[in-house]
Amino acid sequence: MQTVVLAAGQGTRMRPLTDRRPKPMLPVADRPLVAHTVDAAIAAGATRIVLVVGYESDPIVDYFGETYGGVPIEYVHQEAQAGTADAVRTAAPALAAEPFVVLNGDALFADGDLAPLYDGGPAICSVRVDDPTQYGVLDVEDGVVTGIVEKPTDPPSNRINAGAYHFPAAALEWLDVPESERGEHELTDVLERTIDHVDVRPVTLSRWLDVGRPWELLEANEWKIASLVEAAADAERDGAGAEEVHFAGTDRSFAGTVSDDATIEGPVVVEAGATVREGVTIEGPALIRSGATVGPNAYVRGTTLVGENASVGHAVEVKNSVLMAGAAVNHLSYVGDSVLGRDVNFGAGTVVANLRHDDESVELTVKGERVSTGRRKFGVVLGDEAKTGIDTNINAGVTLSTGATTKPGESVTRDR
Ligand code: G1P
Repeated sequence: MQTVVLAAGQGTRMRPLTDRRPKPMLPVADRPLVAHTVDAAIAAGATRIVLVVGYESDPIVDYFGETYGGVPIEYVHQEAQAGTADAVRTAAPALAAEPFVVLNGDALFADGDLAPLYDGGPAICSVRVDDPTQYGVLDVEDGVVTGIVEKPTDPPSNRINAGAYHFPAAALEWLDVPESERGEHELTDVLERTIDHVDVRPVTLSRWLDVGRPWELLEANEWKIASLVEAAADAERDGAGAEEVHFAGTDRSFAGTVSDDATIEGPVVVEAGATVREGVTIEGPALIRSGATVGPNAYVRGTTLVGENASVGHAVEVKNSVLMAGAAVNHLSYVGDSVLGRDVNFGAGTVVANLRHDDESVELTVKGERVSTGRRKFGVVLGDEAKTGIDTNINAGVTLSTGATTKPGESVTRDR
């Protein structure tokens, strides 16, 4: 089935990580975020993908090209980000007069969960959440969606719209919806029109993550790195060799170079071209990407992504963090529950805090406001190419913007 994937947004809540790249291209395990969405669509039955791009679209087009996973990919450019219905309206000329699926390009799904969306008639994916007020909330009666209310203060249920829709062909005529209260043309208004004409089934997802804010990028990596390395472990148990699965398991087969004096525990993938040196301990799940170097004498734990060409040097501990491509933490450092952008450089002895003394959840600045991450453990977010001076301390919940610097010996307690 033809499938529209929405990937045009600016990702303002992810800043500074989206200063120079679109949110859909943020790394989640071994792929960009939106590749997980597209892969899930193809696995479920997408035969053609129309990607709606806008902000910083070049890397998206470069990544997917004209075909991806055996499926043709087309691109439409949404000039202004005027809402999800506007995005699909932009894609409409590229669609045949047939049923179509629409997926938010920043949602992660579990394997197999999207299949029921594609099989059968019109449908919408949903999950139950504790606080539905930030989402579209569904009313369901007798197995049919009877209403949707966007971001209600008094939600009718805790069953929310997960941003994955199967529309009938006729919905192509219903895309021209008026602006909503928040000044956007919303797909949920198109859904309202749809349920007036046809039955729309709710499809319940087993797991779902809307990746909007920096700590959700950590959660996304926690989920998808664990899935990747566990799948590799299963493949190895089934007898596949290191060339196929590059899994570090009990018989220690790796695609990358791993010193005999390194200790690898749990599921860990060391990609071809990555190096793990002597004295290193890695407690999986962890993914060490191509060109990366770990050690000598480093400790990597939690669920950690060491990105392409990133380096983790001597006497460095990295826990539950995402180091994007080229990030360097080379000497005498601690990094916990943090996101380091591309080519970040830590001066020797830079240490990150990831826990408050009062044990409250760590707060982070999102669109200029301090908000709770909901996490007792959260460290820092550093934009691309931020550089710290030697012996810098950075407090939990601090964001350093793209290219920011710190002086030697600084204690950084506020965003910069
Ligand atoms: C959109 C939809 C909302 C849905 C959400 C899922 O909201 O309008 O109904 O629950 O995606 O992520 P937005 O992310 O645009 O606020």
